[in-house]
Amino acid sequence: MSVRILEGKVFAAQIKQSVKVEVEKIKATQRMNPGLAVIIVGENPASKVYVANKHKACEELGIYSEVISLPESISKEELLAQIISLNENPAIHGILLQLPLPEALKNEEAELLKAIHPDKDVDGFHPVNVGKLAIGQEHLVPCTPAGCIKMLELANVEIAGKHAVIIGRSNIVGKPMANLLLARHATVTICHSRTADLSSITRQADILIVAIGKAQFVTADMVKPGAVVIDVGINRLPDKKLVGDVDFEQVKEVAGAITPVPGGVGLLTIAMLLSNTVKAATLLHVKK
Ligand code: GUN
Repeated sequence: MSVRILEGKVFAAQIKQSVKVEVEKIKATQRMNPGLAVIIVGENPASKVYVANKHKACEELGIYSEVISLPESISKEELLAQIISLNENPAIHGILLQLPLPEALKNEEAELLKAIHPDKDVDGFHPVNVGKLAIGQEHLVPCTPAGCIKMLELANVEIAGKHAVIIGRSNIVGKPMANLLLARHATVTICHSRTADLSSITRQADILIVAIGKAQFVTADMVKPGAVVIDVGINRLPDKKLVGDVDFEQVKEVAGAITPVPGGVGLLTIAMLLSNTVKAATLLHVKK
């Protein structure tokens, strides 16, 4: 049986096309332009690249985009004031605080994320949106797990009744992923660094989602033949090569479908951010 390579660019293009149509419809019928503000604090090089990519994607689709670059020395109070001003800004419908924050602000992360108005929280990190997802009222959903679900749906992978195993329990990927899969009637197991006999569990997975942050961690012996493997990881090897959390070359010999890294599900994260921005703009407009 030959493996299906799930190419992110194919699915991201589909999502972006439908977002573009929606943006044009909103502009024509509501006479407003969806707007996204991204706040970046400090000089993290990877974050700068991500933020630039978000800005470019907004421009491509006709979404108004503002990048607010703040110095590492900024205080929590100044950052809170910036967020509050964006909450009140009618041209902005989505607010994203790029993570990770500089060391000095790390302990303030929860408070800062909570300051973003839940209706503008396009990252889906506000406790209100986390809670809504947990009780099955999906509103603004974190972009990476939302992208994984969208990819499974667009690839016609059946979720209901399947055993989905997630490796990683982060607030950004693992936990929201579990809720999204449960809402689609999968049987869900979350594994993590303390899970005993991990392979015996991953080998039961019809759908295996890997977000553990360890280069090429998942090997062929951990995967059930024919399983759908979604690799959320992105790691740089000492030779500078980018790889996922899955050993792609090995696992593609066993899996039924697999996402590559780079070029896999990561490309859907930005597409889902754009989709969330348009969703937020539409809902905020209705509320007015
Ligand atoms: N840094 C890496 N991924 C993300 C994300 O999805 N949202 C935010 N805010 N920061 C990130």
